[in-house]
Amino acid sequence: MSHKTRLIAALDTQSIQQAHDWAQQLVGHVDALKLGLEFTYACGLEAVKGFAQKHPLFLDLKLHDIPNTVAGGLSALGQIHPKLLTIHAAGGPAMIERAREALEAAYPNSAERPTLLAVTVLTSMDEHALQEIGVSGSVEDQVLRLGKMAIASGADGLVCSSKEIIPLRQALGCQPTLVVPGIRPAGSASDDQKRIMTPTDAARAGADWIVVGRPITRATHPAEAARAIQAELQSV
Ligand code: C5P
Repeated sequence: MSHKTRLIAALDTQSIQQAHDWAQQLVGHVDALKLGLEFTYACGLEAVKGFAQKHPLFLDLKLHDIPNTVAGGLSALGQIHPKLLTIHAAGGPAMIERAREALEAAYPNSAERPTLLAVTVLTSMDEHALQEIGVSGSVEDQVLRLGKMAIASGADGLVCSSKEIIPLRQALGCQPTLVVPGIRPAGSASDDQKRIMTPTDAARAGADWIVVGRPITRATHPAEAARAIQAELQSV
């Protein structure tokens, strides 16, 4: 691989204290921290903002609404300065275009603009679940369909499962940012993740960022666990 795969630690907690404790331990050992709905709803946007002032932040709120409402939400996030953020590709081209425009307006300096990521098919959905919402065909077909549409509509990248990295790279080339959760270092517990891959294999397949939660946050020494993953990524 010609580019380095970077490490995001997912801080899934409702406690500001816990999130700060983890962040303090992980400074210098991870490339960004992820906060999502759980932290944001429990602790509020001020707490998220406080985090973003101190650490590179992946704000994973997965917005999905009419274009005008998503654009309004994202322009309000101009106060927060996350490095990466998420919307749902299923919101469609108009929603993604408006999201992109709102971010460009909120961050006139393109170097400061957060990377706009579209979530394709949730990893909790399988082919049967897709059928139940009226989508025929395989999960991979749907990921590729939504992924191509999202990038053509202005998303900078996609959140995808490890299984989808190679087909997405084949379809879209090396430009889009691919962020991949469901990563497990060899020998660690899979927890509730179904489609998992090691950091090495995700890096080889072409992930730009990997997202690792419990293998870091539940480790006896989180910094040690993060350092081991970084060492694995360095050796690819
Ligand atoms: O603890 P674990 O490593 O499984 O955490 C992965 C993180 O990535 C969690 O915050 C989870 O919500 C998130 N995520 C995921 N699968 C997706 C999207 C996000 O596991 N498709």
